[in-house]
Amino acid sequence: MRSATVRSPAKINLALAVGGVRPDGYHPVATIYQAVDLCDEVRATTQPSGDIDVTVTYDGRSPTETAKVPLGPENLAVRAATLLRERAGVSDGVSLAIRKVIPVSGGMAGGSADAAAALLACDLVWDLSTPKAWLVQLAGELGSDVPFALVGGTAMGTGRGDQVSPVLARGRYYWVLALAATGLSTPAVFAEYDRLNRDLVPPDPQIAPALMAALRAGDAAALGVALSNDLQDAAVSLRPELAHTLAVGEECGALGALVSGSGPTTAFLAGDEEHALDMSLALTRSGTCADVVQAVGPVGGAKPIGG
Ligand code: C5P
Repeated sequence: MRSATVRSPAKINLALAVGGVRPDGYHPVATIYQAVDLCDEVRATTQPSGDIDVTVTYDGRSPTETAKVPLGPENLAVRAATLLRERAGVSDGVSLAIRKVIPVSGGMAGGSADAAAALLACDLVWDLSTPKAWLVQLAGELGSDVPFALVGGTAMGTGRGDQVSPVLARGRYYWVLALAATGLSTPAVFAEYDRLNRDLVPPDPQIAPALMAALRAGDAAALGVALSNDLQDAAVSLRPELAHTLAVGEECGALGALVSGSGPTTAFLAGDEEHALDMSLALTRSGTCADVVQAVGPVGGAKPIGG
């Protein structure tokens, strides 16, 4: 039996611009992803029976709907293993053990991180040496955010978010993440976005030049001002209490505050580590969220960490 463990990061969308819904049900987006050091781990072990199965454990910091991670063929990591096996023409099975830290249905691409980790871990235990570009292509078939989890760092996402290219970014950014007790469904948030914007001519999704300039300069204060998320109003409409969490972060001097992706996690940019600690305490004391986690970005994409 062979085993490989891969660690894979959560993401924050520093900007998420959304266009009008396409005939296939997806929305064109222009987004800037940043990978942060809140990571899930997936251990793959070859399974002589030929089956693909999965177990999930939680480290206690993921208070969102943990019971909702499916353990059947619809699990994104299982789908990743199944897709790779099909395309590579192998018959081996694999047991996947997921250790979850990233909030479930939290808007931080936790399921996508697991899928990326499973692709890489299965590639190792099945000894396939699949070129990275092919893995990234398979990742795009699994979900819009999966390619970014393989690539990591700071990157632009276009198409439905799956066309990823690195962007020039300097600096190390300190984030405080306020986690909610229950998750939000991504399709539900996009549907609410459509409802709220039904009278608007769909815009062409664009990233503000000020955000790109802030990243190039490594200027956290300018980045904080430029953070933006077109899905924020939809997430707050479905979960009005997020407005209180955002207000607490803003009151304690966050350089920027926004809903992460489709939410309900909210992300606050701090000036330094000490500021992040102060904001964490204030958010915890406010009682407006279920848990608070600090994270640093950017970090690299999914990578093997052992057997
Ligand atoms: O690609 P992924 O499976 O993560 O997408 C989940 C759902 O989120 C889609 O079925 C769609 O409803 C919505 N979505 C979207 N536009 C995107 C990405 C996701 O409408 N660019």
